[in-house]
Amino acid sequence: MNANKGQAKEKVVLAYSGGLDTSVCLKWLQVEKGFDVIAVCGNVGQDESDLAAIKQKALDMGAIASFAVDMREEYANEFLTLALAANGLYENSYPLLSALSRPLLSKHMVEAAHALGAHYIAHGCTGKGNDQVRFETSIKALDPTLEIVAPVREWDLHCREEEIEWAKAHGVPVAATKKSPYSIDDNLWGRAIECGVLEDPWAEPPADIWTLTADAADAPDHAEYVEIGFEQGVPCSLNGEDMPFVDIVKALNVKAGAHGIGRLDMVENRLVGVKSRECYEVPAAKVLIDAHKALETLCLDGATQHYKLGVEQQWATAVYQGMWFSPLKMALDSFCAATQQYVTGTVKMKLYKGSCTVTGRKSPYSLYDFNLASYGADDAFNHESAKGFIDLYGLPVTTWSAMQGPAADAAPQADQAADETAAANAA
Ligand code: ARG
Repeated sequence: MNANKGQAKEKVVLAYSGGLDTSVCLKWLQVEKGFDVIAVCGNVGQDESDLAAIKQKALDMGAIASFAVDMREEYANEFLTLALAANGLYENSYPLLSALSRPLLSKHMVEAAHALGAHYIAHGCTGKGNDQVRFETSIKALDPTLEIVAPVREWDLHCREEEIEWAKAHGVPVAATKKSPYSIDDNLWGRAIECGVLEDPWAEPPADIWTLTADAADAPDHAEYVEIGFEQGVPCSLNGEDMPFVDIVKALNVKAGAHGIGRLDMVENRLVGVKSRECYEVPAAKVLIDAHKALETLCLDGATQHYKLGVEQQWATAVYQGMWFSPLKMALDSFCAATQQYVTGTVKMKLYKGSCTVTGRKSPYSLYDFNLASYGADDAFNHESAKGFIDLYGLPVTTWSAMQGPAADAAPQADQAADETAAANAA
């Protein structure tokens, strides 16, 4: 297909990172499809200092417009707050860092398409991963009239060498430095590492994959305590100092990372049906989710807390599977938001040699009642009520035991005894 049979070229908005894949995409969209390309590079806190250079690189390759957008605050305030409210962990482990950033990037690409009159959006994802799904479902949800182009799924460059060859032949700058064998995705919520030797799930992750976290063995020999303040479920202070949430995340990535906290090594189930071995380092996410859960144990009533566990799993699965902009996920957000009204207080965490431990929690809305919980002289619990409560609470199992369970097995059957008496009388 050539998008531009007629006069004016069609425009496409490309999610641009500055790396080889998306640079080749940019050129390929021009050369093979005849598009005018608009590059959008989002800063979501990835380890990429020079956004101005990335923006310029796109222009140098002939993009008609190029945007470097600082999305960090929006990412923290509109995405990570919801992830924290839901204690979002896919398969109980992965804090969803890549799954959270794609819908935000998509939103900005759709906005750019509207602003510049583009009818196409392109991304540099392969056909094997989750991220293509997340981009495309988000774009479909936000504007179903936009058409999606996925060059990497279409072109027939079968390996990195072929890609580099194509790049050189078409004037795409190729970095002289040897590329790492890993595929990395990172942002404020952590860093994902896959491919290379990690494709063997038996192979221990080599030390060089980790960049945000120290090896626990090399971490300081003394523990460090941090106090995280929450206001309605959102972190608002660190060690007593009020701070924007985004700054708390940044600070904890450094602090907890230095103590070797937040390394994950897992095999996960991708949406496209394959299992993949993934390593993550998520220092801030680990500390904040643990702290948030601890505060919820004080501030939520037991029934809500228990019900929320199921909601959290559904939330994480929906987000992992590209359903950020969906009625189910938004309804689950509403539930989580309703539970956060009184999740205000402070949690004390001990960071030490790869582990973070909750060592204290307090809240002005705490449902923990010392006089009810205490076994000491201040005990206000009514012990006499317990017997009646248990008699009724245990009634279903008492009945079951007598009729069908252990008591029924032990006792001579009443019916059988009655039958025998009747037979004797008749004789
Ligand atoms: N497996 C994770 C996910 O699907 C991370 C994907 C990261 N992408 C990458 N290019 N390394 O959310």
